[in-house]
Amino acid sequence: MSKKLFIKTYGCQMNVYDSQRMIDTLKPLGYELGETPEEADFIILNTCHIREKAAEKVYTELGRLKKLKQDGGDVIIGVAGCVAQAEGQEMVRRAPAVDLVFGPQTYHRLPELLRQVEQDRAERDRLQVAAAEAGHKPAKRKPLRLVDTDFPVEQKFDELVAETESQGPAAFLTVQEGCDKFCSFCVVPYTRGAEFSRPVAQVLDEAKRLVDQGVCELTLLGQNVNAYHGETAFGQTWGLGQLINGLAEIDGLERIRFTTSHPNDMTDDLYEAFRDQPKLMPYFHLPVQAGSDKILAAMNRKHTRQQYLDVIARLRDMRPDLALSGDFIVGFPGETDQDFAETLNIVTQVSYAAAYSFKYSPRPGTPAADIAAQVPEEVKSQRLAMLQELLNAQQEAFNHATKGRRLSVLMERAGRVEGQLVGRSPYMQAVHVEAPQRLIGKIVDIDVTYAGANSISGTVVTHDLSHTPTQTQAA
Ligand code: 5AD
Ligand code: SF4
Repeated sequence: MSKKLFIKTYGCQMNVYDSQRMIDTLKPLGYELGETPEEADFIILNTCHIREKAAEKVYTELGRLKKLKQDGGDVIIGVAGCVAQAEGQEMVRRAPAVDLVFGPQTYHRLPELLRQVEQDRAERDRLQVAAAEAGHKPAKRKPLRLVDTDFPVEQKFDELVAETESQGPAAFLTVQEGCDKFCSFCVVPYTRGAEFSRPVAQVLDEAKRLVDQGVCELTLLGQNVNAYHGETAFGQTWGLGQLINGLAEIDGLERIRFTTSHPNDMTDDLYEAFRDQPKLMPYFHLPVQAGSDKILAAMNRKHTRQQYLDVIARLRDMRPDLALSGDFIVGFPGETDQDFAETLNIVTQVSYAAAYSFKYSPRPGTPAADIAAQVPEEVKSQRLAMLQELLNAQQEAFNHATKGRRLSVLMERAGRVEGQLVGRSPYMQAVHVEAPQRLIGKIVDIDVTYAGANSISGTVVTHDLSHTPTQTQAA
């Protein structure tokens, strides 16, 4: 009998990947993906702990979901992801509607966890019937609440079932998990644990299966993905550049991307892949977080402003048309106007095609949260507005620079406007074009005729259905 699963995913792309794997894992148990929480038998919130706002959203949603149980529903509510990992028992206490709390390393155990909840409920029902028959008031429901947060990450990847649900033409593939960097603001080393690289063969096998399902673009995921060091079957260790070259040999896989990287983990093979590997797209997300050496040191980034700029210069040497994106934090404790001016300055110096910027959010348990010199909220807001103005202008300028060019675009899905498709350029720009549905999943040439702040659009040049992308021209 088919049961309905509803998953709400917060945060990063790795959570998107993990949610997909949970769907695959639950499918053999008869769970099908539904559209709304109301119709669901099992609800999973796959959560993010990176900033306070992200974590709080989960409790707001749980407040809403609680009503489904109050109305007599028998839905099972599970919380997965980094809030589950970080808060564990605390979450059970704060949100009594939750049945299951399970961390990112335990998704392969979902069938077993669900079975335990179901058994517990059957036992509860049996006791209630027995109490009613004996004329007693039924005992107050006291469901089992499972908190499962410690398993080695290797086990998860060894035991997760093979992916069955199609992810569309552009898919994610986790190749590395965890982080040993311990930036002083960041929860990731605590929620995702120590760095771990999946073995090469496992990654290649998963990639082949995804390509067989129609995937032609893969984004390799890892919290510190350029620290990848996977074992081969012959006892060698491959870096990310080698892995990209290995994946590029898979017929039908046309485009490779990866995220997120740390400036200190750049290796020669990765630089060279940007120069020599045509399937590696000319877009690189390389966070710097701040532009002042004083703040970089306080953040425990372990690199200076100049070291970051040197990495960028070498990358551009290898791939002159490389589009860059970054992450920035404003209002880190102790950040002065002068420090912030250096962030604006490094942004001007690098010139980004896209970026993500945030106000510093103190996270419990991280060293920066205990620094006395916290920056007032209104100062953070002002700085963020200034930084975003600059970054938005750079993004728009980047988009404008592609006007008049011919770009190869992977058509990913139907757009909101009838007859329109949405795709991605090699530089990760969102592209809107009038095109027939049958081009979804194809890479087609587009002449760019319009550039806006957030997307570009143009006209389809070829209807070539053979997945042969045009070599991107250098800017
Ligand atoms: N406050 C604000 N932003 C943060 N990030 C990570 N931790 C925090 C925090 N405590 C940002 C960083 C990181 C991105 C994923 O989220 O910029 O690169
Ligand atoms: Fe967090 Fe720093 Fe690791 Fe990135 S490198 S995940 S910011 S600790």
